[in-house]
Amino acid sequence: MITKSFVWGILPVLAAAANSTFDYNALSLRTVGARNTLDWRIWLEHHNEPISFWHDIPLHPSQDKQIINFIVEIPRHTDGKIEIARSEPLNPIFHDARDGRPRYVESVWPHKSYPFVYGSIPQTWESPNFNHSFTDAPGDNDPVDLFDIGQDPGFVGQVKRVKVLGALALRDGGETDWKVLGIDVDDPIASLVDDFNDVDKYRPGLIDSYRDWFTYYKVPRGDALIPIVNNTYVNATFATSIIAQSHTYWLDLVKGAVDSNEINYNQTSRPDIPGSFVSRYNATAHLGLPAQSDELPAQPKLERYEQWFYLDGGYGVIGENVV
Ligand SMILES: *[C@@H]1O[C@H](CO)[C@@H](O)[C@H](O)[C@H]1NC(C)=O
Ligand SMILES: *[C@@H]1O[C@H](CO)[C@@H](O)[C@H](O)[C@H]1NC(C)=O
Ligand SMILES: *[C@@H]1O[C@H](CO)[C@@H](O)[C@H](O)[C@H]1NC(C)=O
Ligand SMILES: *[C@@H]1O[C@H](CO)[C@@H](O)[C@H](O)[C@H]1NC(C)=O
Ligand SMILES: *[C@@H]1O[C@H](CO)[C@@H](O)[C@H](O)[C@H]1NC(C)=O
Ligand SMILES: *[C@@H]1O[C@H](CO)[C@@H](O)[C@H](O)[C@H]1NC(C)=O
Repeated sequence: MITKSFVWGILPVLAAAANSTFDYNALSLRTVGARNTLDWRIWLEHHNEPISFWHDIPLHPSQDKQIINFIVEIPRHTDGKIEIARSEPLNPIFHDARDGRPRYVESVWPHKSYPFVYGSIPQTWESPNFNHSFTDAPGDNDPVDLFDIGQDPGFVGQVKRVKVLGALALRDGGETDWKVLGIDVDDPIASLVDDFNDVDKYRPGLIDSYRDWFTYYKVPRGDALIPIVNNTYVNATFATSIIAQSHTYWLDLVKGAVDSNEINYNQTSRPDIPGSFVSRYNATAHLGLPAQSDELPAQPKLERYEQWFYLDGGYGVIGENVV
């Protein structure tokens, strides 16, 4: 008997065979410095040579436009604001800074830190060069973000395949900041859900709860609520078209056709784009990268991030016991 899961299992294999140019099994990580410090970095390697998380991982692992690659920056239930360094050569992952110190997200009850797997979509760009029609605001100059609601917590620097189910259009600080809703293709319910509306049947309350989290998660640090355009998700079809559009903005970026806004867009996979191409075989020396991993013991994080923050009905922080 050919089961549904058998079909889902074999489709990516067939698609991967159709595009044998990228060997996902040849990926590894080059890590230097100590966790919870601003010096910590992780570069992505392919056959042990450095490549860019952002510019060198294909957007799609197969022909199916609803399935995309996803770079895990923040594993579920961790709180370091870890992300891709836009201005550094080959865009390593680093610990984002706030007021000169590593930045963390507070836990807002009932959630613990980042309640889902969080990261970004390779070969996409939220172009800051113009106002986007859906949000009437310029992009935030980053790859498009994604949150993965699957069970697997992930690890920093992991490349996952996810199915796009929808998206939230945040307007954070006057910038467009899409949060794509996705699910790890290997999750037990991935084959059962095709759109954000399908999720409630299997994960009651999750969809609304995560939408609300995006509006209030910066309140404990003193920020206002973050508005979401239309205050709801756009569907999977619309989200997929937003991703396709952001991929064209990214292509203009690496071609040098637009203002790059201080992004380092060196890439190692498109020799046909000479303005940004570097050979991965001499990139370590040419770009001055560390030659190998040299990870140091993690530093402790601040006590503040071990506790819960409680919000009242007006989204104010209750209690003054935390500093
Ligand atoms: C295979 O991947 C390469 C590199 O990302 C891409 O340029 C090409 O269009 C892909 N081919 C197919 C058939 O998807
Ligand atoms: C974007 O729209 C705002 C108003 O919402 C306007 O002030 C700004 O000039 C526009 N920017 C561009 C680049 O068009
Ligand atoms: C905006 O929300 C309404 C429901 O409140 C929905 O019918 C409409 O399709 C949404 N617009 C988009 C672009 O998703
Ligand atoms: C998805 O949303 C768009 C914009 O609201 C709408 O035009 C389209 O009909 C929707 N597609 C499906 C399959 O619901
Ligand atoms: C490539 O990286 C070098 C070293 O950081 C930098 O000087 C150059 O501007 C980068 N080129 C592109 C296209 O980003
Ligand atoms: C890197 O290697 C390529 C060929 O593999 C060569 O064309 C290029 O000049 C080298 N770049 C540097 C900076 O050595």
